[in-house]
Amino acid sequence: MSPRPNSLAARDAAFHLHGYTNAQKNEQEGGFVITRGKGIYVYDENGKEYLDGMAALWCSGLGFGEEPRLTQAAVKQMQELPFYHTFTQKVASVTVELAEKLVNLAPVPMSKAYFCNSGSEANDTVVKMIWYINNGLGRPQKKKIISRTKAYHGVTVAAASLTGLPGLHIDFDLPIAGILRTDCPHHYRFGNPGESEEDFATRCAESLEKLILREGPDTIAAMFAEPVMGAGGVIIPPKTYFAKIQAVLKKYDILLVADEVICGFGRTGNFWGSQTMGVTPDIMTMAKQLSAGVLPIAAVLVNQRVYEALRDNSAKNTVFGHGITYSGHPVCAAVALETLKIYEERKIVDRVRALEPVFLRELQRFREHPLVGECRGVGLVGAIELVKDKATRQSFDASLAVGPNLVRIAHNHGLIIRAVGDSLAFCPPMVISEAEVVDMFVRFEKSLADVAEWLKRDGHL
Ligand SMILES: Cc1ncc(COP(=O)(O)O)c(C=O)c1O
Repeated sequence: MSPRPNSLAARDAAFHLHGYTNAQKNEQEGGFVITRGKGIYVYDENGKEYLDGMAALWCSGLGFGEEPRLTQAAVKQMQELPFYHTFTQKVASVTVELAEKLVNLAPVPMSKAYFCNSGSEANDTVVKMIWYINNGLGRPQKKKIISRTKAYHGVTVAAASLTGLPGLHIDFDLPIAGILRTDCPHHYRFGNPGESEEDFATRCAESLEKLILREGPDTIAAMFAEPVMGAGGVIIPPKTYFAKIQAVLKKYDILLVADEVICGFGRTGNFWGSQTMGVTPDIMTMAKQLSAGVLPIAAVLVNQRVYEALRDNSAKNTVFGHGITYSGHPVCAAVALETLKIYEERKIVDRVRALEPVFLRELQRFREHPLVGECRGVGLVGAIELVKDKATRQSFDASLAVGPNLVRIAHNHGLIIRAVGDSLAFCPPMVISEAEVVDMFVRFEKSLADVAEWLKRDGHL
């Protein structure tokens, strides 16, 4: 359907290039233009209301447009010091405060915070830090980095290479050299028939160890892992997984980088996903809910051991030759600090924990549905995976685009969710109420019914 002439959708088609979008389709149909938000709802240019079941890309933990405090924090900072940088030992006072706050909030002892503008940039920065410190430590061969199939770590050159989704590599000449891929810890998809979660976790750890031994432990520097894999389909690792994986990494002196870009700041029912999943990282990256998505800011936390290696190499080289103009931008830092205060005052972690049983109950309601293979969730993040055959777990033919079609149909029912293949992801603002959680799944139920009807009508079932 082509957009109304002169509508924002038509202007979007004419002037705007989107990420993660079929450009040809957008040229024909125009964008899905959001003009305002309130609470957990957003509104399109025709005034239609949508419950944003994805908190706008896992970001808007506090919802939309109801945070005058964040606005005030930004305005105050803009009036006092709208910009300063962090090169050559300079820094805005508010950036120092945020660094201290994040180091103190870390789930395990961390030493220093480094700021970036996006999760991708944070992960790219970590890759460079790891290469840098291993050169400094006199082990230039220890550089390879392990990541997992279906991992999502972003789109910049190193981060996209870490991402384990083929769509981010095809025609981009990625991944770069030195990235190793290990198993995706998705029991439903990759567990053997009859294999327990624990046995599957053991198998993942054994497979990781084999990979390390095959490549040579002294060639491998680090492994990246999201505590709960988000954009790969909301994949919650099997019981005992991280304990077993971490034992292997420790044995071969391989650093663990926890990518908390989605899991951080309460999403999984603890302040950090690492706490929920028993991860003890050496390095952490975070973004998104750090500022409730209101301004772009990301951070890297490094522990003392990593920091000391970096410090010593920077002294040898006279500087740590890495820096981003907007790193630690004071306005973003002020908004992030205020966001963290709001999370504390509103006891956001307790809130997520209180809502978790309702969220999981509503999610699991679909377990018996003939098109549903798996319902998985933790805290306030989850997914429902659709299958053609429940017994064999056979997926639908990808060309049917069942998940993306459901997302489109959900718009008719006033719901925004995200498809990862045929898994539909839910990640509502953490300020959602119990009744709104129920309503979100009622809207999903209607969308699923429409999809079932379409598949039946066209003979795909
Ligand atoms: C776990 C994870 N890491 C990194 C990123 C990349 O963040 P950004 O899109 O801010 O570059 C994302 C984005 O969704 C993510 O989910």
